[in-house]
Amino acid sequence: MRTETPAPIRLTDYRPPAFLVDEVHLDFDLKPEATRVKARLTLRRNGETGAPLRLDGERLKTLSVAVDGRALAAGEFTEEAHSLTIPGVPDAFVLETEVEINPAANKALEGLYMSGGRFCTQCEAEGFRTITWYPDRPDVLARFTVRMTADDSWPRLLSNGNLVETGRGTDGRRYAVWNDPFPKPCYLFALVAGELDELADSFVTASGRKVELKVFVDPGMSARAAYAMDALKRSMRWDEEAFGREYDLDLFMIVAVRDFNFGAMENKGLNIFNSSLLLADPETATDLDYERIESVVAHEYFHNWTGNRITCRDWFQLCLKEGLTVFRDQAFSADMRGEAVQRIKDVKALRARQFAEDQGPLAHPVRPSSYLKIDNFYTATIYEKGAEVIRMLKALIGAQAFRKGMDLYFERWDGHATTVEAFIACFAEVSGRDLSAFFAWYEQAGTPRVRLASRWTPETGELEITLTQRTPATPGQADKRALPVPVRLGLLDAEGRTLAFELDGEAADETLVVLEGEETRVTLTGVTSRPVVSALRGFSAPVELSSDARPGDRYVQLAGDADLFNRWEAGQEVARDLILARAGGAPDEVGEERFAEAMGRALNDQASEPAFKALLLALPTESDLAVASPPADPAAIHAARQALRLRLAVHLEDTLKRLHLGLQDGGEFSPDAASAGRRALRNAALEALAARPGAEVTALAEGHYRAASNMTDAMGGLNALMLLGGGAFTSALEDFRARWKDEPLVMDKWFALQARDPSPDALDKVAALTAHPDFDARVPNRLRALVATFASANPARFHAEDGSGYRFLADQILAVDRFNPMTAARLVEPLGSWRRYRPDLGARMKAELERIAAAPDLSRNVVELVSRALE
Ligand code: PHE
Ligand code: ZN
Repeated sequence: MRTETPAPIRLTDYRPPAFLVDEVHLDFDLKPEATRVKARLTLRRNGETGAPLRLDGERLKTLSVAVDGRALAAGEFTEEAHSLTIPGVPDAFVLETEVEINPAANKALEGLYMSGGRFCTQCEAEGFRTITWYPDRPDVLARFTVRMTADDSWPRLLSNGNLVETGRGTDGRRYAVWNDPFPKPCYLFALVAGELDELADSFVTASGRKVELKVFVDPGMSARAAYAMDALKRSMRWDEEAFGREYDLDLFMIVAVRDFNFGAMENKGLNIFNSSLLLADPETATDLDYERIESVVAHEYFHNWTGNRITCRDWFQLCLKEGLTVFRDQAFSADMRGEAVQRIKDVKALRARQFAEDQGPLAHPVRPSSYLKIDNFYTATIYEKGAEVIRMLKALIGAQAFRKGMDLYFERWDGHATTVEAFIACFAEVSGRDLSAFFAWYEQAGTPRVRLASRWTPETGELEITLTQRTPATPGQADKRALPVPVRLGLLDAEGRTLAFELDGEAADETLVVLEGEETRVTLTGVTSRPVVSALRGFSAPVELSSDARPGDRYVQLAGDADLFNRWEAGQEVARDLILARAGGAPDEVGEERFAEAMGRALNDQASEPAFKALLLALPTESDLAVASPPADPAAIHAARQALRLRLAVHLEDTLKRLHLGLQDGGEFSPDAASAGRRALRNAALEALAARPGAEVTALAEGHYRAASNMTDAMGGLNALMLLGGGAFTSALEDFRARWKDEPLVMDKWFALQARDPSPDALDKVAALTAHPDFDARVPNRLRALVATFASANPARFHAEDGSGYRFLADQILAVDRFNPMTAARLVEPLGSWRRYRPDLGARMKAELERIAAAPDLSRNVVELVSRALE
């Protein structure tokens, strides 16, 4: 029997909490199969007198309930599957409960669970209710005191805030007491117990306070935490300088765990990280790993102010903390690694994930208005588009007013749970602007299509630019409003040099035009030669831009646009059109040659950075191309993209070989951006050469792999060998496994690489790997490495004509949903986009969704995504 579709939760149904909690005392008696949790809550009525107390709880074995010291008899409260109700409570009282839970049996990795023999927690969004009875909602802020007791197998006992006391109880077991002075919602609660090594350091804040910093990792691994520690210190300094935010406690801790559903979690004073986003050394981590560690460490740290000190009133406001915090971590990464390169990477991710989401059945606004399972709303729209909206806000009101608005927000809302409206009101107030039209960016789903038309009159030197917009309908939102769209633009002459102009009598190189309403027109004057318009510079708004530019304009931009984002963008657009033309049966051979020629010049441009060139050289991914050409034909796209790769390999052979040879790094490994950029370009050159198989390039790739002295180059070599296939690849894979079989994070890479293999028998191999002794679907990292990578990063094989790729994924979703609904639900997306594919493929995808929907006992998480995909 199919689970009945549960009723959605709606933003309009929000009501303030009936009771507030001032103090919580938790007492954990930690045992893997039977942990006892005593909770003492100091409660105060907030709503109507006489209303009963209703607490959230799931999978709890209730042992006792007492009000003001008096134990309640069974008839004095009502326990249901998800709630505990006590009628007739006073206006202020102390509630004591005791429950038993089973962390060892918890494979959903939500609440209190075991990872690598340790106790750890994950409470966001609604995991706390599986630990104890509580008003599990973000607008109930309380001061937590946590006591825990455990046997000697769990020597480190950690929780939020400050360590108050440790010792041994009368039974000889170890205990620790922690107190967090900052009121917080229960989703920020954390507890960790187990054997851990620590890397310790300290940081002196701007006002001169010393903060102890500790990173806890698997025994023997503390050297691998050094980079995360360094990133943490840089983040702390940066938040002081960029936002005037100091850290507040005297201790900041991070713990790495292997089994984790997401990336990392910002629990107050005790961040918990997926170990893949924390541990790094040159032998085992790639430059991309370093980059992600830096940004996620910053992200979680920045949450201390945007999320923890100021939190969300309800989960509909999730972007209030996530979009804002992504905005902040992107700004940090741009400062650390270079603005243009960072921006290109962020926009690539935005388009690949969020634009795709906006085109599918799961399209939703940055602030949604209803959900079934909040876990499903940790999406690219909330995070990445949420960050874009703030970026636009800053562009619209200017950097100074933006900073003032942030200051006001921190001052006004510190210690509170608030809303997106309250956040935006701060900026309206300091800038004196009416931001009501802007607010639609939060309420409207879909990617606006913006069109630019320009008319230059040589006689007068006038350039008239007309911008128009239209947002396609999304599920449940047929009619769309016009949004304020900031479009940054400049002009180039035919040689690619910056072309100055005048606007309202002022000379300028660049300007911000705000498209308001359906259409906006501006006239630039003093345009002395035929201009190439470089619009939406730096990707100043999350829209799809099209224009009436002439075909040759993109080449001018690719060669010399002063805005590096648009220089890169021009190359991507040319490549995209060439690939799609070929995929559609009309290859433009002349255009392909011209593109190869231009790419060669860009690669030889001494003035641009290697990291930028590596991005230029990477053609749009097959998924990007599918999004750009509905109904997509993945096989045709794959073949056409291969053809363009081959042409580049042939045309640019000398340049690519020279880059590969010339960028060899001799000295000591350094993870810094410039060194990483050189490695990126060298590996990109090798990958480009691998488009043309042959003995010579195979030998080159083998040599590259064998000579690698760091994981970036080892993976670069292995990747090229994978593309080339054959015996050299097989033996390198074996060599790799023999070397790294005891390193789970490295073995994840081994699985992921094979999942990306585009060769025809890839699915058989991937399916066989699910039976490999090193594969374990209960470990989310491993599951994602193999299954999610196959479904999202290997379109040619996932979309096999016979539907076998879809069947494989559906089987995995059904299997994983039995024990880990959150992670199972995250595998649904690749099937959910069935409407965007060739109808025969789409039908097969849909059939698999229907098969999932018909399965018995599905989780709410999977039900929500599958049913929306089928609507
Ligand atoms: N709040 C976390 C972050 O973005 C993400 C997360 C959500 C982690 C839910 C675990 C569970 O920083
Ligand atoms: Zn976050």
